[in-house]
Amino acid sequence: TSTPRTTHLAPVREYGAAPEYDTPAFAALSAWVDEIRALTQADRVHWIDGSAAENDALLHELVDEGKLIKLNPEWRPGSYLARSHPSDVARTEGRTFIASEKEIDAGPTNNWADPAEMHAKMNEIFEGSMRGRTMYVVPFSMGPVGGPISQIGVQVTDSAYAVASIGIMTRVGAAVVREIAKGAQWVRTVHSVGAPLAAGEADTTWPCNDEKWIVHFPDTLEVYSFGSGYGGNAILAKKCFALRIASVLARDEGWMAEHMLLIRVVSPQGKAYHVAAAFPSACGKTNLAMLRPTIPGWKVETLGDDITWIRPGADGRMRAINPEAGFFGVAPGTGESTNVTAVETLWGNTIFTNVALRPDGDVWWEGLTDEAPANLIDWEGNAWTPESGSPAAHPNSRFTVSAAQCPQIAEDWEDPEGVPLDVILFGGRRATNVPLVVEATDWSHGVFLGATISSERTAAAEGTLGELRRDPFAMLPFCGYNMGDYFAHWLKMGRAVRFDKAPRIFQVNWFRRGSDGRFLWPGFGDNARVIDWIIRRIEGEVGAVDSPIGRLPKIEDLNLEGADVTDEDLAELFRVDAASWSREADSTEEFFATFGDRLPAALTTELASLRYRLASA
Ligand code: GTP
Ligand code: MN
Ligand code: MN
Repeated sequence: TSTPRTTHLAPVREYGAAPEYDTPAFAALSAWVDEIRALTQADRVHWIDGSAAENDALLHELVDEGKLIKLNPEWRPGSYLARSHPSDVARTEGRTFIASEKEIDAGPTNNWADPAEMHAKMNEIFEGSMRGRTMYVVPFSMGPVGGPISQIGVQVTDSAYAVASIGIMTRVGAAVVREIAKGAQWVRTVHSVGAPLAAGEADTTWPCNDEKWIVHFPDTLEVYSFGSGYGGNAILAKKCFALRIASVLARDEGWMAEHMLLIRVVSPQGKAYHVAAAFPSACGKTNLAMLRPTIPGWKVETLGDDITWIRPGADGRMRAINPEAGFFGVAPGTGESTNVTAVETLWGNTIFTNVALRPDGDVWWEGLTDEAPANLIDWEGNAWTPESGSPAAHPNSRFTVSAAQCPQIAEDWEDPEGVPLDVILFGGRRATNVPLVVEATDWSHGVFLGATISSERTAAAEGTLGELRRDPFAMLPFCGYNMGDYFAHWLKMGRAVRFDKAPRIFQVNWFRRGSDGRFLWPGFGDNARVIDWIIRRIEGEVGAVDSPIGRLPKIEDLNLEGADVTDEDLAELFRVDAASWSREADSTEEFFATFGDRLPAALTTELASLRYRLASA
């Protein structure tokens, strides 16, 4: 008998050299890489194999070039700080395009562009864009490599900072190329910072271009991103692929790609439940994903903090995975008192972007500690003191860290089969109207709650409706096709699972305010009290009160032991004001009208039913 020896079978590869596979599928990948290199005229091509040695070499190079600052290993081992160009600090939604064959398929919520014209445009701007630079070829998997819910892609990029970030946020390397060589479907993504170097020209610490393009071709599974080195514009696996392109694949293949966190909640009885939640950006996904319950006996395990892919499983239930491998979280506001789990996750091996630097070589941002250090270097590299009058960290400064470092990550978070979904939450930042928690009466009412998510920018006076920014399913910037069709897809997915096994849908709102402008609900760890009610509700242990907008808890069923909330605040948290809900229904009608005949009839019916219930309340 012989033990198969694999170690010596793989050819010895030169650093950065192309892998060798003799299949037509690999030849297609190889030809595409050659084509992009010929277009961009990159000096060198480096195929990323995902090894630790390669990652170390890249980080070393970035430090040598001044593009990363190595933090003091005594405080923050294996960690780095990047400072972006002041003009390149966020996703650029106005420069983001969906180039579908037909304009109607991009829908009213996206910028549409003609794909033929856009391909011509991309050929023009990418021509010579990587001159003087290395073009990295980064094969990546969203979800465990080869898993039934996973998807793969390749990003070519001239940014080593992007390569290092993709290495944390996804699963990168040789195993992915093997999947492609075997013939798996893959998404082509092309990224250039748009700053070619002439011979002998010195590089800057954050190369980028004033002209930016983030272009998606959903019909051919391609993404082109030009001019920006910033996260969402440069890590194409994340928003561009895992949401915009994936939402189109999901529509065509019968699954769902959502802007949702994913957690496992374990009850005092030891029973596990899986909860996914869609909240718009800066509305608390990362916080809820890392929840530490304030009520005894409950435990939360983190599975994902931003993106969830959901597929009907053979058992008639929806199965969910977090396709990412890391967290790309907002730093400001992340502190011991708000999200201690995140603070503990960031102990080392983290790339920080646009936070402040301490004199001792560690990092700081607003909200990390109550008091700011006396002296800092701000995110733009200038000396800073608390008297400076500007934030030390950019408000959109971020940390990039492996999910495996989260102290409460679920042990099986990489299970390729995913977890069975029990509950879906929709939420937003609402000073008025939306109660702390409402239960949908059925799937289509739940879809109505998702389709009508909105967030208020500022606190509105009591009883009056603030300015609403619609963000259906928290997917406004991320749905890669017509939002009306996306609503229809959601309705259809409810019928793709066993009728008694569809996740139960609830709407939550941690942000309702009193007439004095203060938050009525303590939030954060106390949000476990809401989840406790939701779970006892799905177990049939507690009843509910019907209201025009859905089912509300009976106050006595809430676990409020030790909660810092008064009876008056509770009454206000659950007050349903028919007049202001009628105005909200008017606004929903206007919003729905923007989808024309792509709006599913079921949502028109839901709106009519809401109006009927309000009128008879
Ligand atoms: P993206 O990562 O951009 O998609 O956003 P996100 O949904 O992960 O947002 P994040 O968790 O970073 O949002 C945090 C903001 O919400 C901070 O301002 C928090 O202080 C606030 N926040 C989160 N949970 C609560 C809560 O329960 N109550 C209150 N009042 N604020 C909260
Ligand atoms: Mn987040
Ligand atoms: Mn997000």
